[in-house]
Amino acid sequence: MNMQLDDNRRLRHFLSLEGLGYDALDRLLNRASEFSAEIGAPAVTTDAFRGRTVANLFFEPSTRTRASFELAARRLGCNVLNLDLNVSSTSKGETVLDTARTIAAMNVDALVVRHGDAGTQEMLARELPHVAILNAGEAHLNHPTQGLLDAMTIRQHFPDFRKLHIAIVGDIRHSRVARSAAQAFSQLGCGEIHLVAPRELQPDDEIPGELFTDMDAGVRDCDVVMMLRIQKERMQAGNIPDKKAYFEAFGLDARRLEFARPNALVMHPGPMNRGTEISDEVADGSQSVIWQQVNNGVAVRMAVLAELLENRN
Ligand code: CP
Repeated sequence: MNMQLDDNRRLRHFLSLEGLGYDALDRLLNRASEFSAEIGAPAVTTDAFRGRTVANLFFEPSTRTRASFELAARRLGCNVLNLDLNVSSTSKGETVLDTARTIAAMNVDALVVRHGDAGTQEMLARELPHVAILNAGEAHLNHPTQGLLDAMTIRQHFPDFRKLHIAIVGDIRHSRVARSAAQAFSQLGCGEIHLVAPRELQPDDEIPGELFTDMDAGVRDCDVVMMLRIQKERMQAGNIPDKKAYFEAFGLDARRLEFARPNALVMHPGPMNRGTEISDEVADGSQSVIWQQVNNGVAVRMAVLAELLENRN
């Protein structure tokens, strides 16, 4: 059973994209497009959820996801509570469950949770069923709103996933972004997913896609090249790749982008390590949709929050 769904297959929590299926993804992406406004345009706002409260509980650092969830909740008319967990009770020995239960006891409707331990969000969903749990990043396993925003960005350029070849390149082993993106792309019917990584950064679990160790072959004729951040915080000090050697073998520069299709999209979830994963000219070039990904993140999070809050009316 997928524990994020109720008996009528409505979303009660948002924990993972795995097993959600085409219809649910399509519905969320369509709804996100209603909340979308181009960069520079006025934001879409509504008062539809006035009086509801969303709390951000980030036990790991974040810039994009935390800011994006906060804006999403405010633009839906919600109250927002941001907890600085570096100075919270957890540093005094309180368990994650007790911290979450404390906040949930203040009539909070949704908890947005990022945590480095696998299973934390699922445990909270089990223990606190009266509050919606949204996964904002879980160990190396799940980052479902990132997978959705990546799918939304691609769909704005290429509406039919069945024709697409998508390369996901870099530190796949430690990447929750790669796992959630590949789950989204495969359920949307993506033609081919290429998982491109050095042997030591290939996954040791099942991720939808075909493995490549040669970057030129991996990106050849692809419609999308999605670069990943090297997750140094999940590596032993001695295993962190040398920047120059990594860029030469797995970095995306203009020469290498030529192996992809001429109109290929360049993506990166951020934060980018320029000169290690991607060159300046490609990150800032005409094929880059990196800022569009950030822009879509707010719309996607509005869509997910709206659906969960409606399902709990
Ligand atoms: N892409 C992403 O999750 O970025 P943050 O770590 O800044 O939230």
